[in-house]
Amino acid sequence: MRAAAFAELTGPDGVELIEQEAPEAGPGEAVVEVRACSINRHDLWILQGHSAMIRGEELPFVSGLDPAGLVREAGEGAPVEEGDRVLLCPNQTCGTCDRCREGPENTCESFSLYHGGLAEQALVDADRLIPVPDDLSLAAASALPTAYLTAWHMLKKADVTAGDRVFVPGATGGVGLAGCQLAGVLGAESVGTTTSERKAERLADFADEVVVGRDAGDIVAAAGEGSADAALNHLSGEFTDVCGRVLRTAGTQVVCGRTAGETLDQHSAPFFLSHQAILGSTMGTQPELERLVGMAAEGRFDPLVDRTYPLDETATAFADMEERDAFGKLVVTP
Ligand SMILES: NC(=O)c1ccc[n+]([C@@H]2O[C@H](COP(=O)([O-])OP(=O)(O)OC[C@H]3O[C@@H](n4cnc5c(N)ncnc54)[C@H](OP(=O)(O)O)[C@@H]3O)[C@@H](O)[C@H]2O)c1
Ligand SMILES: [Zn+2]
Repeated sequence: MRAAAFAELTGPDGVELIEQEAPEAGPGEAVVEVRACSINRHDLWILQGHSAMIRGEELPFVSGLDPAGLVREAGEGAPVEEGDRVLLCPNQTCGTCDRCREGPENTCESFSLYHGGLAEQALVDADRLIPVPDDLSLAAASALPTAYLTAWHMLKKADVTAGDRVFVPGATGGVGLAGCQLAGVLGAESVGTTTSERKAERLADFADEVVVGRDAGDIVAAAGEGSADAALNHLSGEFTDVCGRVLRTAGTQVVCGRTAGETLDQHSAPFFLSHQAILGSTMGTQPELERLVGMAAEGRFDPLVDRTYPLDETATAFADMEERDAFGKLVVTP
């Protein structure tokens, strides 16, 4: 079977199509015939050589957190059947640590993520598979696990409810757009930012207010100083301070990423004087992902798949993401 592997960690031109032995399902496992796997900045981060998790000695490396497809083989005791339409929840947990026992599962002390969806077949733990209703395409389903689940968990951590105002810097990508759409599902209003006039036009269909710009002061002024109840920060760097200024007194910002900086650059006094909270967040739980699959199938929101790419064009998908030429999710269809 073929896989789009990272042969070198040099950026998109390091992606190579390789032939691999077809996997076989052991007890509790399943082999999924992958029909769709969305890509995430996490994959690009690995491909660019920035990830501490994946280093050169493990190459070629098959990434891809979000495979969706059909069960091809179910191992002994696996709770799925051949032909089932399924989506993988990429969470990997030990199941026995204090955090696993107390929950939520994404706080597991040895939490990690599945990689291997950018291939024709994926070997997975069958109890991490979620049934996909016929009303939801496999491409749309594959958009959900990393981007939408993370955004949903962040909204929940910030206690966002109907009538709240949610600030989302970088609102045109996977987590950002999901944050705007899911804020709407909760009855909240969203203010999304982008640096691109072209993407701003499309963003207006998903965010209640759109701010276009690069300058921190201009963004704060346009979004409204002290106006938001919650901020979803997947950028870090200077956007931490931007979020703090757009938040109201006692507002909450939730941080999940570092696209714009390795540190949270935040002025101290306005932070403590305004009683704000900054919370870290990673992924969400499998029951939350099941809920998102159900809500998407019911049409309560549409997971936004901007473009699909055949497996042999995976490098192009990563180049488009790297050039910020994407709106919502990019999906590889092996
Ligand atoms: N902790 C977790 O569980 C978790 C889960 C998912 C993602 N993440 C992290 O969250 C971040 C977003 O992931 P994603 O897959 O949604 O990425 P993505 O789709 O590539 O995000 C693109 C968005 O980021 C903005 N952007 C990109 N580079 C920027 C920069 N230098 N300065 C300002 N804005 C920038 C783009 O703005 P324009 O519209 O202006 O181009 C666009 O809105 C990543 O850091 C990722 O690692 C973490
Ligand atoms: Zn654990």
